[in-house]
Amino acid sequence: MAPPKQKPTLFIEVKTKERTPGEPSLVRADEIARDVERLLVDNFERVKVGQCVESHLPSGPWQRHIDRIKIADHTKHGSSEIFHWLADNQLDITVYSLDEEEPHALPDDSSPYLTVSALPNKDLDGLWKSLIFAEAIPDWLLRVLWRMLRMSISDNGLDTALVVWHNVALLWGPPGSGKTTLAQALAQRLSIRLSNAFSSTKLVQVNSSTLTSKWFGESSKLVGQLFDALSQLALDETTLVIVLIDEVETLASSREDATRSNECADAIRSTNEFLQGLDRLRRQSNVIFLCTSNLKDNLDSAFIDRCAIKQFMDTPSIECVYEIFRSVINEFMRNGLVYRDAAEGLSRRRADNEATEGFSPISSTLGHDADDAFSKPEDVSIPELEWVNANLAFFADSAPRELRNLAQRAAGLSGRTLRRLPMLALAKHTVDEPCELGELLRGLKRAINEECLAQHGDVMARKQKTHHSIILGDDEGDTSGQLHSLSLEDGGEGEKTL
Ligand SMILES: Nc1ncnc2c1ncn2[C@@H]1O[C@H](COP(=O)(O)OP(=O)(O)OP(=O)(O)O)[C@@H](O)[C@H]1O
Ligand SMILES: [Mg+2]
Repeated sequence: MAPPKQKPTLFIEVKTKERTPGEPSLVRADEIARDVERLLVDNFERVKVGQCVESHLPSGPWQRHIDRIKIADHTKHGSSEIFHWLADNQLDITVYSLDEEEPHALPDDSSPYLTVSALPNKDLDGLWKSLIFAEAIPDWLLRVLWRMLRMSISDNGLDTALVVWHNVALLWGPPGSGKTTLAQALAQRLSIRLSNAFSSTKLVQVNSSTLTSKWFGESSKLVGQLFDALSQLALDETTLVIVLIDEVETLASSREDATRSNECADAIRSTNEFLQGLDRLRRQSNVIFLCTSNLKDNLDSAFIDRCAIKQFMDTPSIECVYEIFRSVINEFMRNGLVYRDAAEGLSRRRADNEATEGFSPISSTLGHDADDAFSKPEDVSIPELEWVNANLAFFADSAPRELRNLAQRAAGLSGRTLRRLPMLALAKHTVDEPCELGELLRGLKRAINEECLAQHGDVMARKQKTHHSIILGDDEGDTSGQLHSLSLEDGGEGEKTL
């Protein structure tokens, strides 16, 4: 007989206010969770994933302890359902505070090749939100890892000789595609999502390059010591241990390649030791490995075979490039480094309309993402690409439209490069701050062109290689230069909705 159907789950993350060091917490997490449940049920009927709802709640004693209440996820997130009725869902409320502990070596300094820090950590706050991908890779990874960990720690009576999972995930892709950042952000989110299941979480970051010793025969010994240290950390099963290994190809290099090229036996032995170490910790349900590599072809096939998840991460798509630039430029505007010409009022009108149309305090349905600058009219800034595409006629010669052109121009560059280009443009190609948005965008265009030339020697070659677009009229500082293969001219044949 089928088991009774459970209600789907809404995941709510409650961040408590910072306390001064040494100040004890006066309220227990389970009490806060109970209060939050009551507040939500009393004040809302439906909610949407991604919203921070605290600013929509009536003031009360809860404000003394709570900083943020986020509707973090839903079991069916990604389906066509946008709003979720509170009455139709069970609420999974996790209460957390951010730790300020910096990464440090183990107390006995037995493993200088790793650092440990407590999660969730203040340093990693906001990373999750900063990553922009065309597909919902972070959400998907979080869901899969969380479910696997949850099933492996639950006392479900599964025969572990028959049901096997490897606690290793591999993120691979070109340099600067966000692998390390995503691994850290995932660790942070897992620690929050699982805070009801584990009393604490530790992030162990392994410095793989120091493990490959210059002394012959030493490397495999050091790898063995690393796993001894990890096994020690994992002894306390109430602590979740998330091990982040960057550039895992240094530890799990292909033994086939090493044999073919007559490399020393030490490399082969240390890969053997690494694989054995992973096997040793495979049954440890409180340990998970997040590994990154941009040289997947150099990885040992037996290591790849042990990875439960192998996720490719590409350079950002045009839509993501726009979003990365938009997030940086909006941050400039929020902080008064860049200002917008008053003539460009469309996004303000949009924000004003949304503020009055979509939301009514009594309706108890939240229609906005409170993280989004547009929910606050005073933060009026460059709108999302979707909005620009839907209103192209209003955006003739406007900054959002120009940014859309620049995103096409910059497609193919790494996420790392894209994140730093607006700052470079501001410092190098404008005269002083605050500067006008148009001036910044002209500077950004120059910075993109310079970057393409520096990386590829020729903008045309890069574009043809990566996105089959041809750039014409590419003079420095010439804002009329446009992408002609993906023409953005009004109503033109080549008009392409991104
Ligand atoms: N998709 C993305 N969206 C937003 N920012 C990104 C993206 N990809 C990379 N970045 C930014 O680029 C910077 C570098 O990212 P990260 O170090 O995670 O890349 P990586 O893939 O680990 O690179 P490497 O292979 O060189 O180690 C970070 O500041 C990150 O925020
Ligand atoms: Mg990295």
